[in-house]
Amino acid sequence: MEHDLSILRDDSLEAIRVARSEAELERVETDLLGRNGKFAAAMKRLSALSRDERPRIGKLIQEVRRTIDQALADRKRTFGTHRHTFDPTLPGERPVRGHVHPITTYSRRIIEVWRSFGYDVHEGPELEEDWYNFEALNFPKDHPTRDMHDTFFIKGRPDLVLRTHTSTVQARSVFHRKPPLKFVEIGRVYRHEATDAKHESTFTQCDGIAIDRHMTMAHLVGTLHVFFKRMFGDDVKIRTRPSYFPFVEPGIEMDLQWTINGKTEWLEMLGAGMIHPNVMKSLKLDPKKWNGFAFGMGFDRLVMLSYGITDIRMLYNGNLDFLKQF
Ligand code: DAH
Repeated sequence: MEHDLSILRDDSLEAIRVARSEAELERVETDLLGRNGKFAAAMKRLSALSRDERPRIGKLIQEVRRTIDQALADRKRTFGTHRHTFDPTLPGERPVRGHVHPITTYSRRIIEVWRSFGYDVHEGPELEEDWYNFEALNFPKDHPTRDMHDTFFIKGRPDLVLRTHTSTVQARSVFHRKPPLKFVEIGRVYRHEATDAKHESTFTQCDGIAIDRHMTMAHLVGTLHVFFKRMFGDDVKIRTRPSYFPFVEPGIEMDLQWTINGKTEWLEMLGAGMIHPNVMKSLKLDPKKWNGFAFGMGFDRLVMLSYGITDIRMLYNGNLDFLKQF
């Protein structure tokens, strides 16, 4: 009987402890102390005991009963406290309102301008097929031009890379579509480079492409000039320099004049050019019939200049104390 009582005590305390609501606790209480409860059953067995044993066991039962009563009262109080501390007349707690990341703000502005020019906005995967990232863009396998990009490769998947540029849009979005075509893509790109205040292995680019008949460099430069005017005002100044990218011919780079702390500088803004005939062929378009231009800009630098951010790594490390400032 002593043994049974100690089990009854332990089981009861456990049931009280794990009860997760007041209603559940009430059920436990009935089960233990109700008329047909476990405790009543123990009392019944007491009457069956010999006269000698009764006082001792009776005392034990009372002790168990006291322990259970105490545990029930304590547990009830823990549920009760919550109820008593809720004061419906107090003003509610204002939820913290977040805001978009500076890069998102910029991306939206850029997209808005391209949309106003009639460009569609496409998205591509960041884990990209080697073919779209390189091959279709006239970077042949094992060719030195691939060294232009320090690439993150995927173990066991030679067909995949973390995209090194958003120029993948030139291939992915053109494939299986019929020109004339105009669209941009904005997103994160990845390069396996040493990082410092000016370099990060993750950054953000915007690439665009237009394919039609009889497109010229004048269309390209004119379009980009108007784009920068829309972004930064009509007196914005640009300049172009010849450059090389495997997927365009001829290729250029474009700089933007920017005044920082009273000092005027030329900022390298983007690469661009007329889409290479080899790219057209990879995309099953006849280069004699169709041509077009492409451009790709990284704009982390612009975001940094606009907000006075001096370390690019702050844009990607998710530090909320930093981000809350904008
Ligand atoms: N993808 C190049 C880079 O990341 C930039 C670029 C150059 C994009 C020329 C283009 C282009 O679309 O036509 O350095």
